[in-house]
Amino acid sequence: MVKSIGNKKLNTAVFISGTGTNLRSIILYSLKKNSKIKVSLIVSDNLKAIGLKYAKKYKINKLVVNYKNKKNSESKILRILQKNKIKFICLAGYMRILSSFFLKNFKYSIINIHPSLLPKYKGLNTHERVLNNNEKYTGCTVHLVNKNLDSGKIIMQKKIKIFKDDTKFTLKKRLLKYENKLYPIAISKLIPSP
Ligand code: GRF
Repeated sequence: MVKSIGNKKLNTAVFISGTGTNLRSIILYSLKKNSKIKVSLIVSDNLKAIGLKYAKKYKINKLVVNYKNKKNSESKILRILQKNKIKFICLAGYMRILSSFFLKNFKYSIINIHPSLLPKYKGLNTHERVLNNNEKYTGCTVHLVNKNLDSGKIIMQKKIKIFKDDTKFTLKKRLLKYENKLYPIAISKLIPSP
């Protein structure tokens, strides 16, 4: 599914919309000698995404698209991915749904991290819904992306306990630390060693 290319690291783009804590942990992983990816492009749909600061800090190319027109924006992203020879995409808090046009035209794997124990709680506002349902556990999932939202094959999950006094804010903050740990491990698991 994901092909490693000899001893070379897989050329990777990370897509973000916000703070970029997962982006940061993916970059830090990629800088390790034995990592399987090289992050060469950061894509954002939001010029104000805090995570864009990591492009400057780690000298990584960035692309910001405005999504005024989805098809044009996706076509532009596809062109730049091709130009940068990107062979793998990690979605990390990217708040856009990639269209089937995009998925058809990007021939390589795309993965995502979602803040719930999929297949439960697909979509937005997961922490709120989890708490409203009095769940005892929640977690995060790294999965392959397909045309159905948050429905691709699961690569790895981390389950955590919900505390009695948890709010959507405390839960989000606590889970994010686990997300940041899980994402690189899942990448390493998915991509075969050369
Ligand atoms: C994470 O909770 C991720 O699971 C969700 O969006 C959030 C992104 O956080 N899809 P960050 O931008 O990586 O800090």
